[in-house]
Amino acid sequence: MATQNLKILGIDTSCDDTALALLEIKNCKVRIISNVVSSQIKLHAKYGGVYPMLAKREHQKNLPLVFKKVVQGHNFDFVGVTAGPGLEPCLWQGINFAKDLAEKTKKPLISVNHIEAHILANWLQPTHQCQKSDVKSQMFPAVCLVVSGGHTQLLLMRAVGKYKLIGETRDDAAGECFDKTARIMGLEYPGGPIIAKYAARHKGCSLSVLPRPMMKQKNYDFSFSGLKTAVLYKIRKEKKKAKSEKYIQATSSEIQQSIIDVLIHKTVKAAKDFKVKSIILGGGVAANEELRKQFFSIVNCQMPNVKFLVPPKKFCTDNAAMVALTAFYHRREKVKKIKANGLLSV
Ligand code: KG4
Ligand code: ZN
Repeated sequence: MATQNLKILGIDTSCDDTALALLEIKNCKVRIISNVVSSQIKLHAKYGGVYPMLAKREHQKNLPLVFKKVVQGHNFDFVGVTAGPGLEPCLWQGINFAKDLAEKTKKPLISVNHIEAHILANWLQPTHQCQKSDVKSQMFPAVCLVVSGGHTQLLLMRAVGKYKLIGETRDDAAGECFDKTARIMGLEYPGGPIIAKYAARHKGCSLSVLPRPMMKQKNYDFSFSGLKTAVLYKIRKEKKKAKSEKYIQATSSEIQQSIIDVLIHKTVKAAKDFKVKSIILGGGVAANEELRKQFFSIVNCQMPNVKFLVPPKKFCTDNAAMVALTAFYHRREKVKKIKANGLLSV
């Protein structure tokens, strides 16, 4: 069954990026009309992390400007906004902006779960057919790994909108571990891309001196705070050489590999245990080139019949195109009252 042509405005202010996008679904094909992510990285870099109240003020300033840039005279049929999870003061800026807009334009408002949006970012491709039933038979059940600055979750997905949380981090998220260990080494925020850059320059083998927390445990949970502490002790002990370029490259490579080993091991275990048809990645850490490469080759080698999906890098990190697409899938659900971090479908 073909859907009518629809234009959806997506809004995401869950963390430090003010993101808006306009998506068109035409003959069941996805087309991104515009996609703008106004980054606050420079502002937060000097603090080594995101300051929620500062981010909130920036969102307030940026929202009308980014909205203008994204919409540029286009009409839209409904608005999708991230309702959570995320930083509460930041979420409210987006929600209130979306509510006002929906009221003024008399368009429906759909609340979107940020984790689900990271998963559905895999469907943001012009070749993708958007009917739920089409996707269903070949893809599900699937195991989804969502790895970002705020989350590390493994979910069993039975269909679009049907998820079961099977494991998550007990302390820091994988992205948070990249960010915090980068800070320990005196590197900039966000730590993920910069650690990846140093790791890529490292020549020679990885020594595997850092721990792989909880890797051998039978559950699907994660823990990354022990890895962060191990890096802190290592740097303290090796203070004299810790500032050298070569040392930072080698340590970055070790940190990255520890995180990759744990993420792949637990996901592949879940994929085998639940006999899934696909493994789906999402979230900022999924932009990591080494993680993508190693995941692909292990899935290819150990489970050749399992599909491996990862979004293009620009749709791994926070964006509103994924929010608009998620709103499209949930367009028939009525939203009575949006509560930040409350109204969640996952
Ligand atoms: O999904 P995202 O943009 O925001 C959240 O929902 O948290 O993820 C941001 C996180 C940051 O922790 C950042 O360091 C990490 O994703 N990240 C990366 C890479 N690019 C972003 N981590 C490892 N390698 C990358 N290339
Ligand atoms: Zn995110």
